[in-house]
Order: sequence, then structure tokens, then C-alpha cells
Amino acid sequence: TFTPRVFSGIQPSGGLTLGNYLGAIKRFVDMQDQGDFQTVYCMVDLHAITAKLLDPATLRHNTRELAAGFIASGISPEKSILINQSQVPEHAQLAWIFNCVARMGWMGRMTQWKDKSGKNAEAASLGLFAYPALMAADILIYHATHVPVGEDQKQHLELTRDIAAKFNHDYGVDFFPITEPVIEGAATRVMSLRDGSKKMSKSDPSDASRINMTDDADTIAKKIRKAKTDPDALPSEVDGLKDRPDARNLVNIYAALNEQTVEQALADVGGQQFGTFKPALAELAVAKLAPISTEMARLMNDPAEIDRLLAKGALQAREITEPVLKKTYEIVGM
Ligand code: ADP
Ligand code: NA
Repeated sequence: TFTPRVFSGIQPSGGLTLGNYLGAIKRFVDMQDQGDFQTVYCMVDLHAITAKLLDPATLRHNTRELAAGFIASGISPEKSILINQSQVPEHAQLAWIFNCVARMGWMGRMTQWKDKSGKNAEAASLGLFAYPALMAADILIYHATHVPVGEDQKQHLELTRDIAAKFNHDYGVDFFPITEPVIEGAATRVMSLRDGSKKMSKSDPSDASRINMTDDADTIAKKIRKAKTDPDALPSEVDGLKDRPDARNLVNIYAALNEQTVEQALADVGGQQFGTFKPALAELAVAKLAPISTEMARLMNDPAEIDRLLAKGALQAREITEPVLKKTYEIVGM
């Protein structure tokens, strides 16, 4: 049996979005405060250079800003282990072993690989292809039992389970846990505000409708006012949102910000026209998000303090990761 432990990470690949907040960070805070788990949260900077190499100063800035976003949202360095991936070298060391456990065919079937490598896979980095093996190592170097993520990461979590199972089977051990994905809440997949069929992503800089965690109150309100909708009033039943992706997305966001289920949210706002609903949603989003962006800006005034917290987190993390890597090497014959 394994210690109940949560691990999750976010790439410091650019500004954080409302999708990252509702699908991931807010739920990281919930799992931290629940008290049922030891929680480890990570800036995955090694992952952030897989799509393209970043300007070094930009990567460093993004990493600190992501740490500020975590802390401003309620992740406490006292209650959780908060780290930057490259400062805990066992992640990359275990990833090498997993590169040799995982099969090319498994990686080639990943939809994120297909989407991000696009039509020119020959020009994609080897790191982008191997991304899910590093992600498996991030999780399994902690023997994490639970991983809160958005819907888009479900397939990578399944691959993590496959890697753990193959390692355990091939070496005849019961060493790595078969980790449970935790994909819950009203906003496991926040969509673009201008096209409800596309994911809101920090990796898509062309989408100006995207709500960023650094946006001020006016910007947040303006983006919600401009969000794409349809001409009908909101339904009072969830079924009524079925073929209305834009309306469904806004209701999901409303429910998640309000810590409600979609059913509960529709009990309140069902029947409203968008002329009524959008200002209410804007007000709610500003009330929840603007204090976080203000606190992020304050924390960013003292980057040395952020660096100090991350250095401390790395020391705590290595108390877990060093013994797990050592035992892995022993199992493998190293
Ligand atoms: P991005 O896809 O924005 O570049 P990451 O790949 O770093 O972000 O993912 C960080 C976390 O945020 C993951 O748990 C992912 O599932 C979650 N996430 C990202 N975008 C969304 C979204 N639009 N809705 C819900 N969760 C999301
Ligand atoms: Na993602």
C-alpha cells in the first residue's frame, strides 16, 4: 500500500489561463486543504521547452510567475511541497528508465503528440515525443496515488498507468502505484470564448478571447461581455445545453467559479437571457480572479523570495525522490 499522495504540474510555457485555474490550480488547492493527501505541485519547466526552445529570461520569468499564480491561488508552501521540476533531478533520471519501458507505438498514439507535432512530425523535437514518459516519471518518482488534471490530460494519465504496470510486470515487482486520475468539477475542459469547440489554452497565443490569470478586472469583464453566445435563453436542465457549446462553456465556468454543479447553477440562472447572465458572470469572475492577479503582481515584486521557496521545496521533494530513484536503479540492476 502506498501513502495517499497527490502530484500535479503545469508548464511554465506562457500566461496562465482561466482553464488552468478552474481545471487544475483551484482543484490543487481543494486537495491540499482536504487534508487526505500529501500534496506535491510542480512547475514543469523541462516540459515547457518540448514544443519550442524558449528565450532563457522568458522561461525563468514564466516559472516564477507560475509559482506566484500557485501561491496567490492558495497553494501554501507550508502545506504542500512546491517545486520547479529541473531542480529535482530525479524526475529526468527516472524519465530515462521510462523511455526504455514505454514503446514507440504507445507514444505515437497520443493525441497531444499528433496535435502539437502537426503535419510536420519530422521537425518536432524528440522531447515532444517523449513528453508523456517524463510526465509518468514526474508522477511516479513520488509514488503519487492521485493526479488532479483537466480532461485533456486523461490519455497521458492512462499511459502513466501503462508504464507503471509494464515496469512492475517486467521486473516482477509491485513497486510503482497504478495512479488514479482525478478529473472532476464543472470545468474539466474550459473552451475558447470565441469558439466553444476549441480548448482555451495558454499555448495558443492567437486567441485574444482567452482569460489570463494576470488580467485586471476591466479586461476580464470585457472578455466575458464579448464572449460568443447564441440567441436563446439559458435552459433550466443540463440536457438543454447539449448542442450549445458556447452557452455550455459559460455555464460551466459560472458553476466552477461558484463552486456549484452545473445542475445547481442552472437552478439559479436557467431562463436568463445572455444580457442578464453575462454581467453576472463577469461580476463573479472579477470577484474571484482579480484578487489573485493583484496578489500575483505583489509576489512578483520579490523574485528572490519565490526562488527561496522553490529551493526549499526542492530539498523537501528530494527526501522522497532520492530513495525512489535509488530503489528503481537497484531493481533495474544499476
Ligand atoms: P496548457 O494546455 O494551457 O498549455 P498545461 O499543458 O500546462 O496547460 O496543463 C496544465 C493543467 O491545466 C493540466 O492539468 C491541464 O489539464 C489543465 N488545463 C489546461 N487547459 C485547460 C482547459 N482549457 N480546461 C481545463 N483544464 C485545463
Ligand atoms: Na495541456
